[in-house]
Amino acid sequence: MDALAAFQALATPEGRANPYPYYEALRGHGNLVPVKDGTFVAVGYRECAQVLRDPRLQVQDGTAFDRVYPRWREHSSVRAFTNSMLYTNPPRHGRQRGTMNTEFTPQQVARLTPVIVETISSLFDRVAELGRDGSPVDLMAEFATRLPIAVVSALLGFDGDRVTWFRDLATSIAVATDGFTNPPGLAEADAAMDELAGYFVDLVSRKRGCPAGDLVSGLVGLHDTSPEELSYDELLGNMMLLLTAGFETTAFLVGDGALLALSRPEYARRLADDESFVDGYVEEVARFEPPVHVTSRWAARDVTIAGVDVPAGARVVVVLAAGNRDPGQFGSPNVFDPERAEGQPLSFGGGVHFCLGAALARLEVRTALPLLVRRFPGIALGGVAGYRDRWVIRGLRTLPVVVGARRA
Ligand code: HEM
Repeated sequence: MDALAAFQALATPEGRANPYPYYEALRGHGNLVPVKDGTFVAVGYRECAQVLRDPRLQVQDGTAFDRVYPRWREHSSVRAFTNSMLYTNPPRHGRQRGTMNTEFTPQQVARLTPVIVETISSLFDRVAELGRDGSPVDLMAEFATRLPIAVVSALLGFDGDRVTWFRDLATSIAVATDGFTNPPGLAEADAAMDELAGYFVDLVSRKRGCPAGDLVSGLVGLHDTSPEELSYDELLGNMMLLLTAGFETTAFLVGDGALLALSRPEYARRLADDESFVDGYVEEVARFEPPVHVTSRWAARDVTIAGVDVPAGARVVVVLAAGNRDPGQFGSPNVFDPERAEGQPLSFGGGVHFCLGAALARLEVRTALPLLVRRFPGIALGGVAGYRDRWVIRGLRTLPVVVGARRA
């Protein structure tokens, strides 16, 4: 298959259902492949890592959006993202990230452990209740998508009773990350963004009057004392980024981790009984089924990467999921092996935009999976697990499980 055909196949239903054969077809042409004028695809581990770390290759910001879709300012969801750190380049990025680092600290993350455990326990009560007669329960809807929103709400200081509302809005907004190829989805994302922005504005003024030791209270304080460090739009943009960046990604890692645990009783048993097994297991799930399959960078000037000339203005599609299965980096890369020795998959990115929430995501998943198999020792698949029909952020749409006595 030629490189362009393999790349284009990734946008088809077959490609979205199983992108891995197309990554291999691309790899057959090299680790950094020109697929058409102005577009290159990185599928090698080293090449992906190099692109993410090279300051001459930048994320898509407002200036880049102007080139591909000059009407982006009409979309509130896109506007909000362009005020967040993930859509800005140095030096603006460093200023925002530095400000966020002062509030998003290891102490803030550690403070969340009891919240994570309590949230998991009460979500499991509901799963047990729904499944007590042996009916299948959708672990994605009832657990995996609820946990990260509840946790991030506690981190940020959002109202705890609105978790389902945040989840539904964040689900609509996530479509904006698909780019400009889905106009109805973008309209839905804009409507959700407008609703959420109204809530954020109100929350910021409440926190200003009554700071509460949470992340938003801290950021509001920073904005009020040094608005040149964090503008009001950046404050709102980053609140929205934190809500959405840690939502589907973490939910998908929980979902895939659970599905793989159900595939071999030995995994479930070791997750339940052997603490030393858990961290490696979660890292391997992240390598094998990374929630973020792909990201992109734009060449700010002519650059040569791994011997390939990438001209200024070109786009480099960085396929993290393909880098994670590069045989040059990982032995037998298509085998799920929780005890593999090679570490450092690309699942949380690299370079200056390395995931701010990686420690939190790991904490959530490392806590959730052992508790799942301990609480429901007889848990089994209760139907067909299906992946969502999307490529960039990929994960399970549904994961039916049986946790109680089966119906006669
Ligand atoms: C950035 C993955 C969870 C917040 C990123 C990037 C990746 C990633 C690949 C880099 C994107 C790029 O370079 O283009 C994941 C995965 C997660 C996860 C797989 C869960 C399994 C979280 C959580 C939070 C979070 C829980 C926070 C609550 C962020 C932020 C950035 C980011 C703020 C942007 C950092 C910057 O631009 O400097 N994440 N993430 N992520 N992530 Fe995560």
